Amino acid sequence: MISSAQILVTGCAGFIGSHLTEQLLNSGYQVLGVDNFDPFYDRSVKERNLATALAHPDFTFVEADIRDTTWLDALNADVDAVIHIAAKAGVRPSIEQPAEYVSTNVTGTHNLLNWMQRKGISKLVFASSSSVYGNNEKIPFSEHDAVEQPISPYAFTKRAGELLTYTYHHLYDMSVVNLRFFTVYGERQRPDLAIHKFVRMIDRDEPIPMFGQGDTSRDYTYVSDTVNGIMAALRYVNEHPDAYEIINLGNHSPVTLQTLVETLYRLMEKTPNVQHLPKQPGDVERTYADVSRAARLLGYTPNVSLDEGLGRFVDWYKALSK
Ligand SMILES: NC(=O)c1ccc[n+]([C@@H]2O[C@H](COP(=O)([O-])OP(=O)(O)OC[C@H]3O[C@@H](n4cnc5c(N)ncnc54)[C@H](O)[C@@H]3O)[C@@H](O)[C@H]2O)c1
Repeated sequence: MISSAQILVTGCAGFIGSHLTEQLLNSGYQVLGVDNFDPFYDRSVKERNLATALAHPDFTFVEADIRDTTWLDALNADVDAVIHIAAKAGVRPSIEQPAEYVSTNVTGTHNLLNWMQRKGISKLVFASSSSVYGNNEKIPFSEHDAVEQPISPYAFTKRAGELLTYTYHHLYDMSVVNLRFFTVYGERQRPDLAIHKFVRMIDRDEPIPMFGQGDTSRDYTYVSDTVNGIMAALRYVNEHPDAYEIINLGNHSPVTLQTLVETLYRLMEKTPNVQHLPKQPGDVERTYADVSRAARLLGYTPNVSLDEGLGRFVDWYKALSK
């Protein structure tokens, strides 16, 4: 039985959640981690992500599903704040399975908020996404921009999460920071995401698929920068009991798909081999974060360049596949 845990991290076995969990433990927090090993990608990958945290005395793991409230109702734990990272992620698969995305990302989030309210837990950091901006024409994307036109079910569920957290902030005085992550990459990145997929295919000498002409761009953000932003958001909800904030966590430096692909081939010392395919529905044209709010409220400054971050990812990938 769990007796005490300060920070509840949902999605602790995933890419971002596992890095965050380690950072919290290294910073002296106790962590209660929850994950259901969702089959979106292999369980063994997530178990490997969790290995370091599991060896730490201040980490407790609960294998559970946020769509189910039975375990939440039975949870006997002293939780000070919740960092809600768990979600069905991925834009394209959300078009195939919208109901799955709504049940985990909307109903699951609602279950957690309900539980927090009943337990008197009032501090929340929520993982939202740059995808809420849809095909925003104005760049860089600012938190003041309209976000009423999500172009995928995934984007809709993330915006719905931000709105739900507002309702609980308003009704029950919860202090909330919603963080809009911009294409996070680094060691342990989800295998479905472009950088991981491309490195795998380049390594196997397979042609890499490029959807569109390579002119779409993303504000790739290295995972340690994202995690530093989440840690700062946790401090923010601790220090501001009445907060409701939406904050971009990006890199403020968009890179085209073409440049990304060229950089990966250079780092992996291979000859480019690209297969051009039509653009995919649901994919946005560009993402570009205005991070001035994050800098002002959280002291956030991303400091890992794309070359450096990709180099670290390639080294990690090679070490893993030896
Ligand atoms: N990676 C990115 O570039 C990116 C960008 C924007 C937003 N985000 C958001 O950040 C968060 C983490 O993304 P990630 O890339 O680390 O994804 P991930 O899939 O690696 O991690 C999500 C974790 O949540 C768990 N999970 C899923 N459904 C669950 C459920 N019903 N109950 C309990 N656990 C469940 C999964 O098993 C997984 O371990 C997600 O909320 C995602 O939407 C990620």
